[in-house]
Amino acid sequence: MSKVTVVGSLNFDTNLRVKRMAKPGETIHAKDHYSATGGKGANQAVAAARAGCTVKFIGAVGNDAPGKELLVALKREKIDTSGVMIVDKESTGQAYITVDDAGQNSITIYSGANYRFDQNYVNQNRSLLTDSDFVVAQFETPIAATITAFEIAHQAGIKTILNPAPAMEEIPSELLKLTDIIIPNETEAATITNVQVVDEASAKKAAEKLHQLGVATVIITIGSKGAFYDFQSKSGLVPAYKVEAVDATAAGDTFIGALVSTLKPNLANLSKAINFANKASSLTVQRYGAQPSIPYLKEIEKI
Ligand code: RIB
Ligand code: NA
Repeated sequence: MSKVTVVGSLNFDTNLRVKRMAKPGETIHAKDHYSATGGKGANQAVAAARAGCTVKFIGAVGNDAPGKELLVALKREKIDTSGVMIVDKESTGQAYITVDDAGQNSITIYSGANYRFDQNYVNQNRSLLTDSDFVVAQFETPIAATITAFEIAHQAGIKTILNPAPAMEEIPSELLKLTDIIIPNETEAATITNVQVVDEASAKKAAEKLHQLGVATVIITIGSKGAFYDFQSKSGLVPAYKVEAVDATAAGDTFIGALVSTLKPNLANLSKAINFANKASSLTVQRYGAQPSIPYLKEIEKI
């Protein structure tokens, strides 16, 4: 099992279950509400740890109760939290998530402490990056800090993985050149490449554009269709497991965490690792809440 360092976000999620999303100007009733620990970075770290990885985390929380709860949640998974900064006078990151009857979600985040660490802080935590097989980052924390983390990783010969989520149009070319594996979903892939990804053929087109931007390995998750990969002139669609989805929250994060837990740094087992990641995320979509829905290795292996 791999060693992974995540440079990413920690959010305290407030969730509402609704029949359908409210329209602008409309008030609707929710069927249920609950809170959960979340944040794309923390979810990916938890998914990797539950799948059996050794995980370290670099990020920031506020000096408040949600921040403490998020730290406890990572420690419970034996994740090294020595790289999590506690920021005064800023609240822990928050996410407000509405989930409808189709299991689709709509998320608004308040970044808070997630944006309070920088390149210098990453540099100070360099030792957490260099003792790893993979360094993983998303777009809920400062890009300049991610660039520094990826530079440090590359100098140490470590593979970098970018999950370009939430979607962002203009990704600095410097960051893409430092990215070994990019893992967008279909929406994020379309935002970056202008190619609408709906199937294997369109995913291949988007992947070619991402290669032109300097990323050698592309994996595009296409919801219930599965995940498309393209590297070293090999490509293919690894189909998803058919399940009844109730809440897609953290499915993409689970995919990434589970993938890195079993992926060989030379990527020799890429399609096998994707299949394992598809199994893991098929469990996540059948449960509510971000981190509470992320499966353990034993559950994944049963599929
Ligand atoms: O990917 C799901 C996550 O996105 C949620 O846990 C929420 O915190 C947002 O960051
Ligand atoms: Na879920």
